[in-house]
Amino acid sequence: MKIIVCENYDGMSRRAYEEIKKVMTETGGECVLGLATGSTPLGLYKCMAADCEAGKISYEKTRTVNLDEYVGLPAANEQSYRRFMRDNLFDKIDILEENTRFPDGNAEDLAAECERYDELLEKTPRDIQVLGIGSNGHIAFNEPGTPFDGRTRVVELKESTIKDNSRFFASEEEVPRRAISMGIRDILQSKKILVLASGGNKAEAVRAMCRGEITERCPASALQRHGDVTVIVDAEAGAELC
Ligand code: F6R
Repeated sequence: MKIIVCENYDGMSRRAYEEIKKVMTETGGECVLGLATGSTPLGLYKCMAADCEAGKISYEKTRTVNLDEYVGLPAANEQSYRRFMRDNLFDKIDILEENTRFPDGNAEDLAAECERYDELLEKTPRDIQVLGIGSNGHIAFNEPGTPFDGRTRVVELKESTIKDNSRFFASEEEVPRRAISMGIRDILQSKKILVLASGGNKAEAVRAMCRGEITERCPASALQRHGDVTVIVDAEAGAELC
């Protein structure tokens, strides 16, 4: 694992953008980006949008696959992950909507939807996967206890995750209790992995991911088994690393 500790959130975001730019440049934009939602990658998405708006980079040939989606929230709901990505990135860059993919949290047959997403992932290998990390060590919605060989599936959110995510909703009761999430095995299939973390509430999870035992109790520790992971954190999130 390559670990980079930046002074602050902006530095983390700019450094993360360099990694994305490298992949975009090497492939002429004809690549697959695995993307995450949440607060952490917002600064990275701003950097991507700024350069695209300035005409320095184009996502016309780029495809994206997102990690997860809540079950039961209409796609237009402000808190759906599809809507989040549209508002924070896709509407600000020149990507084609049909090239952006999500699990469908409103599918009638959720099990069939998980299979469909796994087939899609097989057909669209990711060049780089952006990840945030939960304060409990989750990646995507793979909560502690998730087997490392898991594929896309419906997950029950842990109480701590519901609490963490309630900041985006009017109340904790409104946070969906289930989500469709890419599995750890799917995540590990990406050629490169870029993990971002910011803030002191992530420090212990970051330590466990990078330096701790490889255990299902910390899903992010599975990343130690991947050969090309870059972890970029701000000083607070990196505080337990030394
Ligand atoms: C989001 C996702 C989650 C978040 C994690 C951190 O698609 O899969 O694993 O990356 O919960 O969230 P933030 O960035 O809001 O702290």
